[in-house]
Amino acid sequence: MGIGLDLLHWYSIHKRDLPWRNTRDPYAIWLSEIILQQTRVEQGLPYFNRFIEAFPTVQDLASASEDKVLKLWQGLGYYSRARNLQKAAKYIVKQCEGVFPSNYAELLNLPGVGPYTAAAIASFAYNEAVAVVDGNVYRFLSRLYAIGTPIPSSAAHNEFKAIAEQLMPQGKADEFNQAMMEMGALICTPKQMQCDACPVNHYCLALKQNRVAELPVKATKTKVKTIYLNFLHFRYQDRLYIQKRDSSSIWKGLYQFPLYESSEELTTSSLKKQLIERYHLAKFTITETVAMQHLLSHRKIEAKIWQIELAAPLGDLKNDIFEIGEAEWETYPVPRLLDNYWREFYVSK
Ligand code: ADE
Repeated sequence: MGIGLDLLHWYSIHKRDLPWRNTRDPYAIWLSEIILQQTRVEQGLPYFNRFIEAFPTVQDLASASEDKVLKLWQGLGYYSRARNLQKAAKYIVKQCEGVFPSNYAELLNLPGVGPYTAAAIASFAYNEAVAVVDGNVYRFLSRLYAIGTPIPSSAAHNEFKAIAEQLMPQGKADEFNQAMMEMGALICTPKQMQCDACPVNHYCLALKQNRVAELPVKATKTKVKTIYLNFLHFRYQDRLYIQKRDSSSIWKGLYQFPLYESSEELTTSSLKKQLIERYHLAKFTITETVAMQHLLSHRKIEAKIWQIELAAPLGDLKNDIFEIGEAEWETYPVPRLLDNYWREFYVSK
């Protein structure tokens, strides 16, 4: 039949039933694609369902508060995706009179929408003949044709997109793109690939050359930098202090305990000195609680949460720090590591 049709046939039998595959609504498809960037399907699925329920239309999303959007996003990480989601929703409502852009080129104008996401929406919602190239597609095609171009890069993206568009059967962009991604997710996986079950194994050059495990070739990564985040959980009776993050790209817009960032790991005595200097504290006790590591693509975060028992309320609040009651904590969107600390360490103690 040829590779394209073989893939369509395989997909019609083996595809997973996922909610965004049963709709042509560009809004729902866009939402699913943003959630699924850097997120596995099983993890993203409940978030998708909650978002669609809370914001059934792009107008609902555009008019929601940023705090509500971030709260629903809590735990997914890479929060710029959530902020761009709302920026794009506002753009559609204001600049496009609420009508979702209806082709690949126009979709690229939306904040947070790059070539992959634009191709996904254009093909799944409108059946436009543009190929999606994500990690799954890179892996599958690099093996099928034994291509060693390092990924990801814009050169590799163009090369693989052109190949995929050659394979795409006429009028079948939607199913073909889903099929390519599904192959990468279910058969042509990074490890323990199921070459025996692959519908196009007799075409696969990597399999012939015994190079399946070597491909795709990954571009060398830049070195990750370690940063030390010390979250200061000041307690005074049933009160605590939080601030909204705005300076850094990680967790921008979320709330946190007052933060002290250090270039190396802190000891209790070095923190004590800092507290006296920065917060003019006289009487207090420090308890070191949980330490956590958080790995991002470009940094390693060593986070520690310190409980600081105060003898008087914090005075002279700087850096947008404000006081709340403990009962209010759960209403603020916070990084997952702080939420874990609160629920698993602090409240349950
Ligand atoms: N990952 C990203 N987009 C996807 C989709 N549409 N279906 C399954 N997995 C995906």
